[in-house]
Amino acid sequence: MDERQRHIRALAGEKRALILAHFYQTMDIQEVADVVGDSFELARQARQATHPLIVLCGVRFMAESAKLLNPDKTVLLPAPDAGCPMADMVTPDDVTALRAKHPDAAFLCYVNSSAAVKAACDVCCTSSSAVRVARALPHREIVFLPDQNLGHFVAAQVPEKRFHLYDGYCIVHHLVRAEDVRAARRAHPECLVLVHPECPPAVVALADFAGSTAEILRYVERREADGFLIGTEVGVVERLRATAPDKRVFLLKPSLLCRNMKKTTLADLAHALETGREAVEIDAALAQSARRTLDRMIALSL
Ligand code: 13P
Ligand code: SF4
Repeated sequence: MDERQRHIRALAGEKRALILAHFYQTMDIQEVADVVGDSFELARQARQATHPLIVLCGVRFMAESAKLLNPDKTVLLPAPDAGCPMADMVTPDDVTALRAKHPDAAFLCYVNSSAAVKAACDVCCTSSSAVRVARALPHREIVFLPDQNLGHFVAAQVPEKRFHLYDGYCIVHHLVRAEDVRAARRAHPECLVLVHPECPPAVVALADFAGSTAEILRYVERREADGFLIGTEVGVVERLRATAPDKRVFLLKPSLLCRNMKKTTLADLAHALETGREAVEIDAALAQSARRTLDRMIALSL
């Protein structure tokens, strides 16, 4: 750890703060966090946190989820303008319109969504919990939103249910093409290809494995292979190079970088701890309904 990181650890101790970071954060942030995880693990950690202060190094929907799951705590988002374009692709009015079209369906909403959209839905999921949640729901019909690609991935694994997919997408993963997988395999024929289910179905179909960030990391750590081509954000590759230096890992495509996830800097994190800003606030009436969808996700995933 360098001096700035030691300063942040000292501040965290002083303020009794829990620092949570997503795997897509830069390595200097991952190194200073108490816990680094996928979206599901960050939600679980936030929910069980006993610290008075939670600092979420990630994007806004993650900080909102932490606040919803543990409302008595102060939750800080050190990079307040770190949003998720996919989360902005669906509004509560869109959900209302779809409810009128599919009155018998359960509304299953990817955690990459606003608190207002969560409040309008029945249950949430993350990429690692989506299949389990969809199977556990009593409904035979499911509206999945906003990610069409994760929706397709879930629908393929839960064929006994009828899915209606919304047309949102991740601006990073959606741009991966089947041809990118073929080209990467030609360059590295010895490698296994692992992708995130936010990638299009044609990409998932060509991969050896598709899973959440944590599932991809676990797969590489446990599996012997001559190399791995990683089809998710570059933070996962950087983490693997730091934690599993004996493995050969390559980013599937250079454009796999989420600008929003890279907004948090060590200076932002220190500033958040020093000033207590920016604290996430959610309208109380909305929070109650939104919290119910997250609690339900955790209950159905255990
Ligand atoms: P997971 O870490 O849950 O796989 O999520 C990926 C992602 O895109 C978060 O925005
Ligand atoms: Fe949103 Fe995609 Fe960035 Fe995740 S990687 S925060 S889904 S834009």
